[in-house]
Amino acid sequence: MKKWMAYVLTGCLMGAMLSGCAAAPAPASSEGNAAAADADTAEETQEGGTLVMATNAEFPPYEFYDGEDIVGIDAEIAAAIAEDLGMTLEIEDMAFDSIIASVQTGKADIGAAGMTVTEDRLENVNFSEPYAESAQMIIIQEGSDVTGPDDLVGKTIGVQLGTTGDIYAGDIENATLERYNKGMEAIQALTQGKVDAVIIDREPAKVFVSQNEGIKMLDEEFTVEQYAIAIAKENEKLLADVNASITKLKESGKLQEIVDKYISAE
Ligand code: ARG
Repeated sequence: MKKWMAYVLTGCLMGAMLSGCAAAPAPASSEGNAAAADADTAEETQEGGTLVMATNAEFPPYEFYDGEDIVGIDAEIAAAIAEDLGMTLEIEDMAFDSIIASVQTGKADIGAAGMTVTEDRLENVNFSEPYAESAQMIIIQEGSDVTGPDDLVGKTIGVQLGTTGDIYAGDIENATLERYNKGMEAIQALTQGKVDAVIIDREPAKVFVSQNEGIKMLDEEFTVEQYAIAIAKENEKLLADVNASITKLKESGKLQEIVDKYISAE
């Protein structure tokens, strides 16, 4: 087992009794982050400045709490980009469906949250070059009669609010959607039999399945997607800088190194 996974597992086991896995307190520095974010508009982004990243740290292995710190693939990629740009990274944790607005209004410079590039989102923000491939996957209780996407007709489906799982599950005929603030809450609803299936991104799906008895992920993908970093439309300089950094991280092998630290090859 990877070291970080042990952190998540212990954190969840202890946290679950109190208030659930995702209820880790915000880091002590988060108020400072918020103040910095207010003062630091997208236009001021520059060498020596602060790069404010908006995320939703309920999404292992891309972003999650390790004690008081937000860690994960996105956190490390953003840190590497900030370093490349000569900037200091600050991470702001928020609801997933607030990230785009906070980037649009300049409260955050970038949104990095395992965020899928979609046509609708492209109307509000720009996206960097993609840095990961993903898919929406279906999780069910063991023994369920659901064997693939076609069997979801008429079912009750749990999703995380505002995610592509939420958006695309809306196309399933006669399905009832139950929307949760955290992916983990959708999983808990599944284990309690309150929903028939959960639709969520592949890597978090694997983590959640590994942490909960009696559920499994189907092999067939519901959708295939790409993750990229959201940046305000008017901040073209930052978009170019971030893209240049992503290219460097890909070419140097650093991006793959970060991914390998959190995702074991199959
Ligand atoms: N990829 C999905 C989307 O973009 C889910 C992302 C959820 N990310 C998170 N940090 N909670 O809608």
